[in-house]
Amino acid sequence: MTDAVRDKVLHIADLHFWRMKFNPFKQLNKRALGNLNLLLRRRHEFVLESAEAHLAYVQTVGVPDAIFTGDFTTTSLPEEFALSRVFMQQAADVGLRSRAIPGNHDVYTFAAKRQDAFQYYLGEWTSGETLPVLYHLPGGTPVILVPTVCPNLLSSKGTIRPEEIDRTRSLMETVDSPVIVAGHYPLLTETPAYSLTPGRRLRGADTLRRVLGESGKTVLYICGHVHRFSYVADPQYANIRHLTTGTFFGRNHAQHRDGEFSELHVSDTAFSVFSHIHADGWRREAAPCT
Ligand SMILES: [Fe+2]
Ligand SMILES: [Fe+2]
Repeated sequence: MTDAVRDKVLHIADLHFWRMKFNPFKQLNKRALGNLNLLLRRRHEFVLESAEAHLAYVQTVGVPDAIFTGDFTTTSLPEEFALSRVFMQQAADVGLRSRAIPGNHDVYTFAAKRQDAFQYYLGEWTSGETLPVLYHLPGGTPVILVPTVCPNLLSSKGTIRPEEIDRTRSLMETVDSPVIVAGHYPLLTETPAYSLTPGRRLRGADTLRRVLGESGKTVLYICGHVHRFSYVADPQYANIRHLTTGTFFGRNHAQHRDGEFSELHVSDTAFSVFSHIHADGWRREAAPCT
């Protein structure tokens, strides 16, 4: 065993591409509600034009593998998916090898889920298989992508079903430690950086967390959804660390930044996390696990 870094991978979250399309008479209730919300709150938070500039910086980091943990869109509109696809294609063109899973905003309407818009527009960056899915980084590190999203009428809850947790447990038994597990929703309800209201939590989070904890393997669970950076040790299971990464190019007033992503290093025994933060230019910081 050595502590040499065998894999590096970027974690990018919550791009939330959006296109205004406000005509409530033509739209179903949930989408009209989402656009109202977008009009009032998100308008100044997400700056589409920043995405390409931020991608140019990502290219300079020199880490070719990336995991995108969802919320590419805001209300699952075809225009938003199309923008996401353009961005992902640009990322591929500059050499990024990406894997993507959906966030709750990518299955925002039941129609989007039924038509599987995510797979249609972003299928090049999925395996096409039903989650959970296992793959390996070039240095051998296993990555398990887990399903956590479902459409809702009004809330923003996620779901991982018992059979999906069982399949995750089976995959965990086959892999070597350490392992990265990636979902959209956090497994911890709160950390010093965020607190999840009941309507934004993952159903099944405690069960999945127990499965990861009882695996005995060294686990880094990564996700987005809360739009805050947070890197903490699990309060109950010593083998799990939890990382949430904030929005890739959205403004985060609370943490004084307008874009971020994380860089993960994996050795034979441990993980290290570096935070890339955009606030008047980019800076890279080693992130301690608290
Ligand atoms: Fe989000
Ligand atoms: Fe989300």
